[in-house]
Amino acid sequence: MKVSTWLIPPLKPTTQDSFASIDIAVVIDVLRATTVATTALAAGASQILTTNEIETAHQLARDNPSSDGRPALLCGERQCRPIEGFDLGNSPGEYSPAGVAGRTCVLTTTNGTRAIQAAVNAKHVLLGCFANLTAVIDQLAASQNGDQNPHIGLVCSGTNGEVTTEDVLAAGAIIGLLHQRLADTPRFYDGPIEPANDSTSIALATWQHALTGEAVSDAESLAAKLSTTKGGRNLIAAGYESDLTDCASIDVFDVVPQRIAGTTNAFAL
Ligand code: MLT
Repeated sequence: MKVSTWLIPPLKPTTQDSFASIDIAVVIDVLRATTVATTALAAGASQILTTNEIETAHQLARDNPSSDGRPALLCGERQCRPIEGFDLGNSPGEYSPAGVAGRTCVLTTTNGTRAIQAAVNAKHVLLGCFANLTAVIDQLAASQNGDQNPHIGLVCSGTNGEVTTEDVLAAGAIIGLLHQRLADTPRFYDGPIEPANDSTSIALATWQHALTGEAVSDAESLAAKLSTTKGGRNLIAAGYESDLTDCASIDVFDVVPQRIAGTTNAFAL
């Protein structure tokens, strides 16, 4: 299984085109867009529609009422904060079953929805985070079946065009745990995963260092690690430190948001 990793989303169209060779892209925005999307769908939201623009979000909400006839919910952030006139911000804790079950959520964020857009040419797109880590690995492992040898693309969202460690950690965790699942050797470079670029090796090394050099072993230590990253520091500065705990809660959901076939920006379970 080939794995390519982008530490930030590719922005040049020529690079973006390379997603056509990606069978399954996993878009990662641990803090917080893909954690929010996973939480919302686990809480019963019927679908998530993503866009980069606030105006387009309003239009999508008008055009896509919830299946029970209630309006779509406008969700997301700018500079980490809720958007004026929107129903929900970008904190996972806001997405409870009481608030979102049965609703269409239209999500626009600074970085995560752009990473989703960057991966538009991939054949399938999943949303990954620590909260659904094992469920993502289950799906990727299941995609290697007989002759099928998929090319996986891990797309870290970054923060404002820069690499941020929380997404790289999650990509590295996916690579390392996928190897453990598929391999009969502990030696990564003898195993079934072929790192298709150096960013894949860098992400794996970042995760391995967090495990062995920084004693990241559970949600609490992961939240402490997230508080040191660029995305984590931004959230703390904006007053959202408690979101780090939700975003570091490993495997609280066993669902994976999937792009709905035939769409470019709609996700459901
Ligand atoms: C993003 O997509 O830019 C992030 O989710 C930022 C945030 O959560 O504030």
